[in-house]
Amino acid sequence: MEQRKLVVITGGSRGIGAALVQQYAALGWQVKELSRSGEGAHHVTCDFSNRNETRACVEELFSELASQSWEKVIVINNAGMVGPVGPVDQTSSSKWYANIDVNFSAAVTLSGLFIKYFQFHSVDKYIVNISSGAAHQPRYGWSLYCAMKAALEMFSDTLALEQREEAYPVKSIIVNPGIIDTQMQKEIRDASKANFPDVQRFKAFKEEGLLASPEDVAEEIINILSTGPETGQTYNVTDQRKR
Ligand SMILES: NC(=O)c1ccc[n+]([C@@H]2O[C@H](COP(=O)([O-])OP(=O)(O)OC[C@H]3O[C@@H](n4cnc5c(N)ncnc54)[C@H](OP(=O)(O)O)[C@@H]3O)[C@@H](O)[C@H]2O)c1
Repeated sequence: MEQRKLVVITGGSRGIGAALVQQYAALGWQVKELSRSGEGAHHVTCDFSNRNETRACVEELFSELASQSWEKVIVINNAGMVGPVGPVDQTSSSKWYANIDVNFSAAVTLSGLFIKYFQFHSVDKYIVNISSGAAHQPRYGWSLYCAMKAALEMFSDTLALEQREEAYPVKSIIVNPGIIDTQMQKEIRDASKANFPDVQRFKAFKEEGLLASPEDVAEEIINILSTGPETGQTYNVTDQRKR
């Protein structure tokens, strides 16, 4: 059967992204996932810490996909990294720029080129930006991560505004996934107390079984998207998770 629904997911090699890839593929969607270490039929290799590589790889992908007809297209800006963890002056400039590019520049590139190539496709189109509570809560040691999630949220809201009057608008939403048992959480727990004074609280989340599984979170994100969410809005997975 020909697959007419397309989802492009960044950071689909593990964690929430991998669960989204697996579940959308099982639902019969055409899936493309972009990361450095993914594998298999859906995978496109791309290192988001390199802007030129990201632009070239995304441009090639979207120009090819836009030549086909779809009934629904979703781009999920999911790739992310928490590090460098620690006071900003004690971390290196190469790590600052990698954080900015993976958490924010990649989403700008995916979004800008998606709109460029798909603006006149008269189908249902979404950009989904996976954010974090860190966008609204300064956390000692996470300056880049907090700042880039805040930037991503404002970018998402502004895109929604810019697209509202278009004949075939791209809708843009923010999804807060909650706290999930992924490699990112392990990296958070592995930080020193000096670099991340809140580390004990995150260790307790794991010990007390408060972390959601990536599979449950992916299922909830897919549920949110299947209900036709409103552009410019924020959706919290934790509000919807079955207890
Ligand atoms: N886990 C949580 O508790 C939590 C809470 C709030 C928000 N989030 C957000 O949820 C999203 C997914 O997080 P997760 O927990 O699933 O993280 P994860 O397991 O660490 O996965 C991160 C993904 O991002 C990709 N990525 C990292 N650096 C990259 C690079 N330079 N180029 C291309 N891809 C890169 C990784 O792929 P490669 O390494 O293969 O490149 C991987 O697929 C992130 O945006 C995160 O901020 C997570």
